[in-house]
Amino acid sequence: MKDFLIAPSILSADFARLGEDTVKALQAGGDVVHFDVMDNHYVPNLTMGPNICQSLHKYLRDAGIDKPIDVHLMAMPVDSLIPQFAQAGATYITFHPEASLHVDRSLQLIKEHGCKAGLVFTPATPLSYLDYVMDKLDVILLMSVNPGFGGQSFIPSTLDKLRQVRQRIDASGYAIRLEIDGGVKVDNIGEIAAAGADMFVAGSAIFGQPDYRAVIDKMRSELAK
Ligand code: DX5
Ligand code: ZN
Repeated sequence: MKDFLIAPSILSADFARLGEDTVKALQAGGDVVHFDVMDNHYVPNLTMGPNICQSLHKYLRDAGIDKPIDVHLMAMPVDSLIPQFAQAGATYITFHPEASLHVDRSLQLIKEHGCKAGLVFTPATPLSYLDYVMDKLDVILLMSVNPGFGGQSFIPSTLDKLRQVRQRIDASGYAIRLEIDGGVKVDNIGEIAAAGADMFVAGSAIFGQPDYRAVIDKMRSELAK
């Protein structure tokens, strides 16, 4: 089977028990912690900063869990946050090109700080942002909802966009992950994978159910079909 990653989005976790709830999702089979950073400026919502990331990273290590943290920046400016999240234990740092004045510089900064770098595309962001930076990307994140909130419905036109990005990645010859974020559920993960994604963010689908393992197992069996 292809190397698929499932990334529980802790935006939908219980923030009063964040460490515990995150551990539960990882022990239930989650591969990567998806960490949404919102600033009430680039997006109309406010979430977590680097100090929460650092505490969570320590909590996971203390619990004997060594799984990556995938920081999705929905904030501007981007560059001042990069060293802070790198120090706070991020493995991946992704940002929206519209939120950075110098996309190439921000990608380089992420790499210089030892993290994996990625660009995020909202449903209406053109793919032309990929034109000159494929060699600097470890991940491309397509959003299948407008950024800012969990629990929204998957926007179907993203499937076509996924196919286009999959073609570009394959043609480039680079090992770039294709991540999808927004409205991913058990009943659509199969067609999302068929369109080319290999990393799946799921917030409300996992944290909205009492049994996280049951949801993640069902997702994996859809991916194995
Ligand atoms: C939305 C965030 C997502 C969100 C997804 O702006 O980037 O990561 O948590 O939530 P669901 O899976 O509930 O659509
Ligand atoms: Zn996200």
